Amino acid sequence: MTTPLDQARIVELPRIQDPRGNLTFIEGGQHLPFEIRRVYYLYDVPGGESRGGHAHRELEQLIIAASGSFEVVLDDGIRRKNFFLNRSYYGLYVPQRVWRELENFSSGSVCLVLASQHYDEADYFRQYDEFQQAVRGEG
Ligand code: TYD
Repeated sequence: MTTPLDQARIVELPRIQDPRGNLTFIEGGQHLPFEIRRVYYLYDVPGGESRGGHAHRELEQLIIAASGSFEVVLDDGIRRKNFFLNRSYYGLYVPQRVWRELENFSSGSVCLVLASQHYDEADYFRQYDEFQQAVRGEG
């Protein structure tokens, strides 16, 4: 049985290397399986801190460690997969209906997120039990 977790993957983004500093770009429709409708970023995160702890009904995201590093634990209600992000030219594609925890931020890291929808609190599963019941109910 395939689950949304099977669609989660690391996306390698274009990288223009230059002695003056490297450059990475992301174009809607080219590097992502969704159109970008929102961008947000986490910064000033104390070293070792965690964020996330929710899933989305419809939202898809690309999560990038624009600076520093952190771990992302994805969970489909049955299985878990761990990813370590520490390069600004890799993004983690997170499909709908996957619980995510962002853990162990290095101090000074910046987590850049490209999202397929505007912010909508009704799109969140905030309780793991509720998420698990919803996804197991589908199977
Ligand atoms: P949340 O998504 O819970 O952050 P994290 O998963 O990183 O812990 O969002 C934290 C707060 O910020 C919450 O009150 C909702 C608000 N928020 C917005 O208003 N707009 C946004 O685009 C995002 C991502 C969050």
